[in-house]
Amino acid sequence: MMRTATCGELNTRNLKQTVTLAGWVATRRDHGNLIFIDLRDRWGITQIVFSSEKDVATHKKAEDLRSEMVIKITGVVNARPAGTENKKIPTGDIDVLVSELEILNTCPTPPFEIGDSFVNEELRLTYRFLDLRRREMVEGLTTRYRMTKIVRDYLDQNHFLEIETPYLTRSTPEGARDFLVPSRLTQGTFYALPQSPQLFKQLLMVAGYDRYFQLARCFRDEDLRSDRQPEHTQIDLEMSFVDENDVMGMVEGMIADVTEKVLGRKLAKPFRRMPYDEAMSRYGSDKPDLRFGMELSDLTPIFDGGGFKIFNEVIAAQGRIRGIAFTPPAGTEFSRKNFDDLTEWLKNYGAKGLAWFKVKSTNEVESPIAKFFDADRLGRVIETLSAKPGDIIFMVASDPHVSAVALGALRCKLAADYKQIREEAFEIFWVVDFPLFDWNTDEKRFQALHHPFTAPKDADKALLDTDPAKIKAKAYDLVLNGTEIGGGSIRIHDTATQQKVFNVLQIGPEEQQNKFGFLLKALSYGAPPHGGLAIGLDRLVTLFLKRESIRDVIAFPKTQKGTCLMTEAPSTVDAKQLKELGIKTQ
Ligand code: AMO
Repeated sequence: MMRTATCGELNTRNLKQTVTLAGWVATRRDHGNLIFIDLRDRWGITQIVFSSEKDVATHKKAEDLRSEMVIKITGVVNARPAGTENKKIPTGDIDVLVSELEILNTCPTPPFEIGDSFVNEELRLTYRFLDLRRREMVEGLTTRYRMTKIVRDYLDQNHFLEIETPYLTRSTPEGARDFLVPSRLTQGTFYALPQSPQLFKQLLMVAGYDRYFQLARCFRDEDLRSDRQPEHTQIDLEMSFVDENDVMGMVEGMIADVTEKVLGRKLAKPFRRMPYDEAMSRYGSDKPDLRFGMELSDLTPIFDGGGFKIFNEVIAAQGRIRGIAFTPPAGTEFSRKNFDDLTEWLKNYGAKGLAWFKVKSTNEVESPIAKFFDADRLGRVIETLSAKPGDIIFMVASDPHVSAVALGALRCKLAADYKQIREEAFEIFWVVDFPLFDWNTDEKRFQALHHPFTAPKDADKALLDTDPAKIKAKAYDLVLNGTEIGGGSIRIHDTATQQKVFNVLQIGPEEQQNKFGFLLKALSYGAPPHGGLAIGLDRLVTLFLKRESIRDVIAFPKTQKGTCLMTEAPSTVDAKQLKELGIKTQ
């Protein structure tokens, strides 16, 4: 062994022992006859001391040490002089007086200081091997590993089998674009990297491998955000002979276990379940953040028959006028510009306008449109929203979906901007009773709200032939603090229903055979009732650690543009490689 201890473990129990440590020079303080170095490795930091009085030659050698050099030292563990202890770290009561120093490797001046977390992210990603030395990153990846270990153990105890499914496969529709891999052996054909192991896990159920799981990498070519990466990891599971309650119960056990072991927080089971319609009408979101109030109210009946033309037009077109009441922090004045900026921002959510009232009393408001409403109507609006003088009422009049979603987004923005989120809260619950399909207005056709393999509720099955928009799905999403951390469903396990769903989605018989022939065939060969779910591991770890972005808990993530700044992927390739694949580029 090159060393006798790590940099994170020595304390007063080790006094007078001779130890050998190895690691990186984190900081160096030169006090003339004494040089102090913080020696860092994955486990922590140990202060080592070079004394010219005790050992001139070693002290002299230490003068050459610079940040991030790799060294090995041998020395004796001493108690730090009273008053110089560092209570913040486990090794803070001791230091090691060095008698031997070996420089294992040198390092040029690093582009940023390792302890500095305010470095711009591009630089951090370019030098990710340095960035990963930061304590925060080590903690992130360590917690991530612990969480996967707890999940694996839990699933193992519940008799799940971990089975790998292919990465080179056919398209698995989850609503994103596929990443394609050209085949050299059959030119002109392509593999698709899986958006999820969905079809393979269903085939495993047909094959009888009840209780499968996999920590599966999933690939989706979609626009990236702080909670999305082109490749992410799912805790993916599937069970046979189950209904929704069985799957949700199993997942609740898993999440409660990992939450208690990692965060020390006991979760009450079963988790709350909120119907999709309620989530949309109260919060304007299918993943509501319950860490703050500002619930939406439907004000349409109150404004109906009032004197404001825009509202009346929306009501006549079957639209809705919804509102929220926001309490600004004391002393915050909302100016015309604030309202204009919010109105502009809301356009991203399809809202053409934003109406607002500054509440003055129980039936008086200040607003450019106040004159259109009598005191009785204003009183009812204020009462419905439980608004108090000083509050601001925001209203969006639009079609039912846009009015909810836009106001839902505004609700989240206001809570974040004005720090009204209960940061210590852990609001975890299921959203259930989703519609099976939603209507794509641009393409004028139905699309699957989850994926096309989700089973309709038994009572709604007949509607597949008559009124698909009304069908509810046997689907469930798991939401934590306003983020969707997982989703799943009971699946269709008979060919006829699967074909009907494809028909609603306008996937014709030929395309069905072409793309999903193997699934339809398998379903006809004795498919058991089955269902499952997948948790987004990266998101779960991010939320557990309260990090800004999933990039902070992934060792080598991509930028928002899908690039790796360190390896410079994606990159051009040799003409020879393209030729072998039979690919021409413009
Ligand atoms: P879904 O598409 O909902 O379901 O994905 C499951 C969970 O994976 C996470 N997730 C992502 N995380 C990071 N980056 C992404 N681009 C990304 N996309 C999704 C989310 C999401 O809730 N096969 C189904 C599951 C099933 O039905 O069993 C599926 O993939 O947290």
